[in-house]
Amino acid sequence: MRKLLIVGNWKMHLNASQASLLLHRLSERIKIHHDIEVVLAPSMLALQPLSTQIDRRKFRLASQNAYFHDEGAFTGEVSFTMLRELVHYGIIGHSERRHIFDEDLNMVRDKVAAAIRNEITPILCVGETKHERDEGETKQVLHDQLMTALSNLTAHEVGKTVIAYEPVWAIGQVAAKPDQVEAAVTYIRRYIGDVFNELAAKKVRVLYGGDVAPEVIHGLLAVPGIDGFLIGHSSLNYESFAGIVEAAHRWQRNRRSSGEGE
Ligand code: PGA
Repeated sequence: MRKLLIVGNWKMHLNASQASLLLHRLSERIKIHHDIEVVLAPSMLALQPLSTQIDRRKFRLASQNAYFHDEGAFTGEVSFTMLRELVHYGIIGHSERRHIFDEDLNMVRDKVAAAIRNEITPILCVGETKHERDEGETKQVLHDQLMTALSNLTAHEVGKTVIAYEPVWAIGQVAAKPDQVEAAVTYIRRYIGDVFNELAAKKVRVLYGGDVAPEVIHGLLAVPGIDGFLIGHSSLNYESFAGIVEAAHRWQRNRRSSGEGE
């Protein structure tokens, strides 16, 4: 059974001391769960101090971004090589990076390869805009994003990555409906099965992101094939985020005791 993964993307919020305080509050509320991985993605600046504070049995760290070259004259950038002692995961291709910072498909592909080269697990974000959905292009967009981003990877490497389906129209707006999430998650896994192999499709973890809040968590947890969530604004509120983690843990425990999902 794939382990549930819950990722808090703190975006450009919280300075280092505020981040440390939020981690402290989360540590008080979140227990050690062996069936869930909880990952925090603070700003680049807070990664180092949080890495010394964190209880590694409860949390892992992720970067929100990094550059694809390992080192060199790239003013203002931080490489995955520099992050490899600090983070387990790297968020790559978030729609804010694609749309605000013009990251194109090839750059996302090179970042995925750089993360893998540095033994950091990519959390690759894919998803369509509202216009693309309205035009019926969702599958084509997912296809193009996956095809480019994963093109330098072996099936074994793809099996170890995480793909986050984040429809751009849902982020910070309104959670996608469970059937919309299911269709995308199924498409992503089928794509990986067809292009790589069935083992990679079985192993890859597929998350949903976009306005995930405690109120919608149960509906989303029930979506077949979903392995967790990438959470933005609700991850900045310790009660909401801890509530989501505990709800996911209870759900996972019930599923296991009823013999499902083996
Ligand atoms: P949201 O953000 O939960 O605030 O919608 C999700 C994301 O951007 O990863």
